Amino acid sequence: MSENLKISQAARALEAGQLVVFPTETVYGLGADAQNPEAVALVYDVKARPANHPLIVHLAKDADLPRWAQAISGEAEKLIEVFWPGPLTLILKKSPAIHPAVSGGLDTIGLRCPSHPVAQALLKDFKDGKGGIAAPSANPFGRISPTRAQHVLDDFGHDSRIAAVLDGGPSDVGIESTILDVSRIATHGLVLLRPGKISATDIANVTGRKPALADENAPRVSGTLPSHYAPRSAVSLVTAQRIPFVLSALKQKNMRVALIHHSVLQDVPDDDFFVRIIMPLSVKEYSRSLYASLRKIDGADADMIIIEQPPEGSAWDGVNDRLRRATQKTAGLLEKWIE
Ligand code: TXA
Ligand code: MG
Repeated sequence: MSENLKISQAARALEAGQLVVFPTETVYGLGADAQNPEAVALVYDVKARPANHPLIVHLAKDADLPRWAQAISGEAEKLIEVFWPGPLTLILKKSPAIHPAVSGGLDTIGLRCPSHPVAQALLKDFKDGKGGIAAPSANPFGRISPTRAQHVLDDFGHDSRIAAVLDGGPSDVGIESTILDVSRIATHGLVLLRPGKISATDIANVTGRKPALADENAPRVSGTLPSHYAPRSAVSLVTAQRIPFVLSALKQKNMRVALIHHSVLQDVPDDDFFVRIIMPLSVKEYSRSLYASLRKIDGADADMIIIEQPPEGSAWDGVNDRLRRATQKTAGLLEKWIE
């Protein structure tokens, strides 16, 4: 079947209230017609996601924004001009015409215009470009997001509630979009809810001010729950200097270890007691392969996954954020094992 035909069949399925998985430049999304509350409810069901965690609505390039959001500030307009289509989600005041199901009952809405050509083709075909596709990442709630069609098939291949999975190749960015709350500018300024490829510095370069980090009053974002993006095995972040010590301590305890690192590690020979993945050094390449690497290494069924602490700095905020959350559930376990 030709790509165009698949895309138009997927658009018809969405219009009929069915679910379609589609590629974006960040991760794959599990899409539904944003204006169809039953289809949206099905997304929550399939993902086993709590109903109070709102979905991002994806729009075509020339979508009519005021149909979805109101009180769009000059700063938001500037950000849209520079970063759309691309990996930036803006939280805006919701237009009263939009059904509250999609935004978990909040008076705001998350909007994003993805740059992936398949996503754009789908959005253009779906309701003649006038609709919105509500889509969370296409993974079971709390697990690792998919950056390949195969990841989606691994997680949901058996699920007949998904009408189609469009394959758009490996996701180019590899971690979820940056989420910036611009709905409370007057009282809170710009608030960064989830870091991503578009960094706080990139945002400041456009708006002239640095976004604040999410506060206690920030709306619920499941991607900002302390534990998220989690592999099944225990995970721990360790500095390059400490890795040789940690590995030998775990070996003494007969623990099966999986190692993900990016530096050249002098004192770590290849050893069949552990599997290892060597990551690229650039943040772009690192992000692109992060989730595929986590999924692969999770399949090794190690007792513990050791990940070398990535560099600090604004460009690495997205990666560090995801890894902190991936390790949250098993924080402290490593120290207990090797004490
Ligand atoms: O890159 C991405 O953003 C991917 C692709 C598929 O577009 N989507 C994604 O969706 O990561 P999801 O649902 O896994 O994460 C979206 C986050 C959720 O944590 C949700 O709570 C938050 O965005 N969110 C959505 N609407 C919101 C709103 N009105 N206020 C605050 N947070 C919101
Ligand atoms: Mg997600």
